[in-house]
Amino acid sequence: MSLRQPILVFDSGVGGLSVWQAIRLAYPELTCHYLMDNEGQPYGELDDSTLIRRACDLIMQVVAQVNPALVVVACNSASTLVLPTLRKQLDLPVVGVVPAIKPAAFQSSNKHIGILATPGTVARAYTQALIDEFAADCRISRIGNSELVGMAEDKLAGRAVNLPRLAEILAPWSQGDGPDTIVLGCTHFPLLATEIIECLPAAHCIDSGEAIARRVTNLLLPAANTAKLDVKERTLWVTKQDQRLAQQWSSFLLAGLTQIQVIKSRLT
Ligand code: DGL
Repeated sequence: MSLRQPILVFDSGVGGLSVWQAIRLAYPELTCHYLMDNEGQPYGELDDSTLIRRACDLIMQVVAQVNPALVVVACNSASTLVLPTLRKQLDLPVVGVVPAIKPAAFQSSNKHIGILATPGTVARAYTQALIDEFAADCRISRIGNSELVGMAEDKLAGRAVNLPRLAEILAPWSQGDGPDTIVLGCTHFPLLATEIIECLPAAHCIDSGEAIARRVTNLLLPAANTAKLDVKERTLWVTKQDQRLAQQWSSFLLAGLTQIQVIKSRLT
């Protein structure tokens, strides 16, 4: 592995940017490419087999083109499901993102944790296993919602977030005995953290972005001593070009992406 090689960050949409920002803060000169399956989203609504086959197919196609040092699956809905299959197919490190339940259990004072994620992630056996292992002493409340994914997509396209609707979705947690710690278990949701806290001022949010950046840093550090950093084009791979993508492009430019390429799923 060498820093002359890029890394590849994958998500269904703009959510992976919350992880990408954390990685770029740690390694500003690293060549990162970003793959988003905007035609297949929301991933939180896909059945397991479709999600596994679709995500693996797209990642394998881009890996063949960019030869990355490692792949970051910056999507909870995908990571909690596809990692075993993907790791069998790829001969390079794959870093996944899973809901930050362990640190949330540690940080919560009232031992009531809210898991805000996609319908897929809140229902996954992987998520339940994390709860059983790290938060058995906590009360757990779950909200599985895909509308927030669209709100984050729209926000990065320059559209206003529908705060009354967001407040309505989060209303079950706005009572006195609500969770004091909210796990943002979808990488889209840190992009809405300000609005979420506006709706739930007594709570604090926690996500996995920095933990993933630390994991990536640890994996890349041995290479950093011997390899010269090599800045090239940073490509945004997408599965669909539409008006929303055009409106989102300035957010991607700001994040450091430099060009767009389209890739198509080979599944029928
Ligand atoms: N950003 C993704 C996640 O972390 C998925 C959003 C979606 O497409 O449902 O779960």
